[in-house]
Amino acid sequence: MNLKQALAQAQHDVMHTLEQYFHSQAHAQPRILAATQYSVQNGGKRLRPFLVYCVGNMLGADKSDLDKAAAAIECIHSYSLVHDDLPAMDDDDLRRGRPTCHIAYDEAHAILAGDSLQTIAFELLSSTDFAIGASAQLSLVKALSQASGLLGMVGGQALDINATNQDISLSQLESIHKAKTGALLSCAIKLGYLCAPNVEESTKAALDSYGNAIGLAFQVQDDILDIEGDTQTLGKPQGSDEAANKATYPALLGLEGAKQKLTQLYDEAISAIDSLAYDNTELKQLAQYIIARDH
Ligand code: IPE
Ligand code: IPE
Ligand code: MG
Ligand code: MG
Ligand code: MG
Repeated sequence: MNLKQALAQAQHDVMHTLEQYFHSQAHAQPRILAATQYSVQNGGKRLRPFLVYCVGNMLGADKSDLDKAAAAIECIHSYSLVHDDLPAMDDDDLRRGRPTCHIAYDEAHAILAGDSLQTIAFELLSSTDFAIGASAQLSLVKALSQASGLLGMVGGQALDINATNQDISLSQLESIHKAKTGALLSCAIKLGYLCAPNVEESTKAALDSYGNAIGLAFQVQDDILDIEGDTQTLGKPQGSDEAANKATYPALLGLEGAKQKLTQLYDEAISAIDSLAYDNTELKQLAQYIIARDH
């Protein structure tokens, strides 16, 4: 399978898991159910699920465990986007090629849809039919909650809001990006290896280093695309960062400096997995995709 096919497979599998889940919620209040589904059953790239599958498959994890972990992290990510777009945060009106949740519904439903996606993530992770066993399952819950919480995505979003219209240092910017975006991306890799039995500590450490590098690279490229991308391809508004005077890599280092940083992070990611005792082809292709993607 090439990378494009593997990404399409992850997209398909996540949709399938979500369909099954929402089928069980058919009696929920219709408008919040619709706003929740609108926010996650859409054209996201599903990169975090892809990472869960890629690492989990590489290490021999159970497919149905990976399905639940992959859908869970996508729910957290999608909730973070719904809240990120709210008027009180980035105030954006386009996401994944469609009106943002608060435009299509209203602010109250966007807040609630984010909240429900967050709880769905942990409902999926606490399903009683995991093959890997309860203690590993608790590690999944802990990893995802830490990556989503005060020292992860939520903390990073707070740092991002506080850095808006401010002059900050490069190391402060790196901390923001690692928390708001890197934490969930590297958590996807963790979920993949936590679903697998008997993984050596050295393998986990190599994958963590890879995850840290691509996690930061992902947001650096996101910042670059805000300048060089176009709204149609991005499926979200180009120029949003500049309009809101956001702290970004191009704002601090210039476009060329940001691109150099990207190359450096790519090299770091590749060297982290070079001596991995497993086939690392897909992980290498993904690192390349992350720094070269156009949306
Ligand atoms: C966008 O993430 C938000 C960031 C963390 C930069 P993605 O680029 O993965 O967005 P989707 O999920 O494909 O819409
Ligand atoms: C968002 O960063 C990170 C999140 C935790 C959602 P951005 O604000 O740059 O993401 P986009 O560009 O709106 O997707
Ligand atoms: Mg933001
Ligand atoms: Mg935003
Ligand atoms: Mg952005």
